[in-house]
Amino acid sequence: MAHPFLIGENMTGGYGAVDILHSCTLAVEKGEIAVIVGPNGAGKSTAMKAVFGMLKLRQGSVRLNGEDISRLSPQARVRKGMGFVPQTQNIFTSMTVEENLEMGAFIREDEGIQDTMAQIYDLFPILKEKRHQAAGELSGGQRQQVAVGRALMTRPQVLMLDEPTAGVSPIVMDELFDRIIEIARSGISILMVEQNARQALEIADKGYVLVQGANRYSDTGKALLADPEVRKSFLGG
Ligand SMILES: Nc1ncnc2c1ncn2[C@@H]1O[C@H](COP(=O)(O)OP(=O)(O)OP(=O)(O)O)[C@@H](O)[C@H]1O
Ligand SMILES: [Mg+2]
Repeated sequence: MAHPFLIGENMTGGYGAVDILHSCTLAVEKGEIAVIVGPNGAGKSTAMKAVFGMLKLRQGSVRLNGEDISRLSPQARVRKGMGFVPQTQNIFTSMTVEENLEMGAFIREDEGIQDTMAQIYDLFPILKEKRHQAAGELSGGQRQQVAVGRALMTRPQVLMLDEPTAGVSPIVMDELFDRIIEIARSGISILMVEQNARQALEIADKGYVLVQGANRYSDTGKALLADPEVRKSFLGG
């Protein structure tokens, strides 16, 4: 069997002595969208932190493009091609939109930062319009665009998003999902946690239902949407 492009495999660990994750496995292929859903407190954000290196694993490993990166710091993982948008506090509210994007490029030493910023402004034109405004003055959906844009500034191969559509209207959610599809089509893998489970699974190549820190269901997005048990328990019928 081929190795997934990114995999957190059999991840067990938590905060202090208490394990939150129990042999949890998440994977995504190149240019694909993998979506993680599950009830509040299931450990979705914890699993994302584990994949990004913000949580010490007691067991399990994380591999990117075949390389074991389990022991690398988050910053070293960014250098390897990972971008992460956390669930909360994912922008600098007192800085302008453009300063946020510049901060995102902190590890880059090459000359191409302006080109990448131009690409992000093409993807999210409203950010170009508001580039000199404080990010904290933007709407919820626009702030999420800033957060995604910031993570794209390092030109990641994998983009991890923890609830990118939290608190936005259905229309703004659809727009964000369209942009996420566009990012995936450019070859970037997307590993994303979503509360809007049904809509997210519709755009997912692969879906995971996480319950109490463990994999409950894993299948294609389509198959999960069609599964009566998944529908009843996790998608509101
Ligand atoms: N920093 C922390 N220290 C201790 N316990 C934590 C910490 N962060 C989360 N937890 C606990 O770990 C469990 C999983 O939390 P986590 O935030 O990963 O869930 P989640 O699935 O992302 O939930 P939500 O849908 O609300 O975002 C919860 O019981 C939570 O209280
Ligand atoms: Mg969470």
